[in-house]
Parts: sequence; C-alpha cells; structure tokens
Amino acid sequence: MPNDTGFVPQDARADVLEIALAGLTASPKTLPAMLFYDDEGCRLFYEITRLPEYYLTRTETALLTSIGPALVPDGFGDAVLVEFGGSDETKARILLDRPDSPFKTYVSIDVAAPALTAMRDRLGESHPDLAVVPIVADFMQPLRLPPLGAQRMGFFPGSTIGNLDPAAAIRFLAAARDSLGADAWFLLGADLRKSPKILLPAYNDAAGVTAAFNLNLLRRLNREADANFDLGAFRHEAVWKDGDSRIEMHLISSRDQAVRLGGRTIRFAEAESIHTENSYKHTPDRIVEIAARAGWEMQRIWKDHAGLFGVFLLRGG
Ligand code: TRP
Repeated sequence: MPNDTGFVPQDARADVLEIALAGLTASPKTLPAMLFYDDEGCRLFYEITRLPEYYLTRTETALLTSIGPALVPDGFGDAVLVEFGGSDETKARILLDRPDSPFKTYVSIDVAAPALTAMRDRLGESHPDLAVVPIVADFMQPLRLPPLGAQRMGFFPGSTIGNLDPAAAIRFLAAARDSLGADAWFLLGADLRKSPKILLPAYNDAAGVTAAFNLNLLRRLNREADANFDLGAFRHEAVWKDGDSRIEMHLISSRDQAVRLGGRTIRFAEAESIHTENSYKHTPDRIVEIAARAGWEMQRIWKDHAGLFGVFLLRGG
C-alpha cells in the first residue's frame, strides 16, 4: 500500500446541534460521549490519563509493553494494524516499535480529523517506512476499509469497549470482524470489574479534571450549537451501578433552569441529570462471552499483577 493514502471520505456526519437536540429532548436527557472530543476535550482527556487516580492508561501501557512474542501471530510478516478510535498513536507505537513488529501499515479510524492529520505527521517523521492511513469516520458505523492484505490485526485499547453497552459492544466487535475480513486478529484492552473504592476516584479525581472534561461538553454546545449553558449551574457526578457493572457519568443541574439550544428551549428541573457516559467494567469471563457472541475466539489474556486491567487477543473465524 502506498504511503499517504490520505483520508477516505465517509458519509456526512449529523452536526453537533442535531445530535445534542436529539439527546436533550429525550427523557431521561443524554448527550453522546462522541461529543467530548473537541480540541479542549482531547487535551483534558490526555490530562485524565496522567492523573494518579486514573490507573487505566498507565496499567494498560505497562501491560502492552511487557507482552512478549506471543502477541505476534505465527506467519505475520507484512501485517496491517487497524486502530479503532485512534487519533493518538501512543498505544499503537508500543506495538509498532517492537523489535519483532510485523506491521508495515497502520490504519487509524477516528472522528477527529485534525488529530488524525497530526498523528500522520508525527508517524511520518518517526516511522518513514510505515504506511499510515488515516480514516475520518465514526468507528461505530459499518465501514468499508481499503484492501488491506492478508494479515490484519484490529486494535481497540483504552477500555473504550467499556463505553459501549454490551449489545453495542457485540455489534461493534461483529462489525469490526466484517471490516477486517476473514482470519483477522484483534487486540482489545479492557478495564476489569473491581471495587468501587478504586473505580470511583478514577472518574472523579481530586484535581477536578474529569469534572472539567465532562462540563466541557456544555461549553462545546455553547460554541457550536447556539446554546447558553451556565457552566456554574451544572456539576459532574460519577456513580457506580453494581447491577449493571458500570460507572455512569452525569451532569447534574443545580437548579430549575431553561437553556437555549439552537432556537429551542430546554428545561431542567433542580437535580435533573444529563447522562453523558457509561464505563462498563466486565470480568474477563464476560469479555470472552461478548467477544464470542461477535464471532471472535479468545486466544490469550494478559492481566497486570493486581488484576486491574486486561489485554485480550482474539481471532476471527
Ligand atoms: N474510555 C475512558 C473510560 O471509560 C473514557 C473516560 C475516562 C471518560 N474518563 C472519563 C469518559 C470521564 C467520560 C468522562 O475510562
């Protein structure tokens, strides 16, 4: 594949106002997590990944770094790594920089076009022999990938799988299997179920970065969707729902209020919530089950010594 294949155009995305209106006129109110990642949201999320409470990134990075040759399937020599949601190549670099790296092409699918361009420039500098193929798309939508050759590995780190409810996770993994084609491999990073004493601080840090990240959604709507949210009148809340095995992120209205959104008025009662994100924390067995329902067979599981985080190597039929 030639270097610099460029952006593959995808179907037009619904704009921010339309997406926000759909969520905020629903009951209960929601905003989709996809809206978090404007420039400021990406910057704040990067800060989250470096917080002492947010063990996920640190633990996954150490795990990926420590994984031995078992990561590379037999026969891989001219392979393609396809990252879903990868506007930041930091995790992919761990795989690309291995002395035995079989990857000659890196395909990265993300909605953030400017971040993908920056990623391509950085990798072009550090990995001149690597073909880098950025694709601007919502990785949750079915996707037609360019022809990729016979050896393909999907990559979905960061426990983003936990941000999908189990049915959506199965749909995503099944769609990824279709896009990657027969006989592909898939490397999945997932945070694991554990005590809320560890989980809750990871989503409600002492320095307030997660709160700023959550509230940034409203700032974005003020800027891009003709809204007038008072950021001082909403607060961040993270709760653990044991039955669903998930952390829920909410923005809670601190008073009765009316907010303008693209010519409409949205009313909030005091203590009413906007549900902005779920982060499921599955057991390894549950991940195996979810993967199996999407047609993937578990090949291997790596966990850190404390069992906080798991890296799962799957194989499609
Ligand atoms: N994939 C990350 C996770 O679930 C995303 C995330 C971290 C996040 N902190 C957040 C999403 C706070 C919304 C709010 O861990």
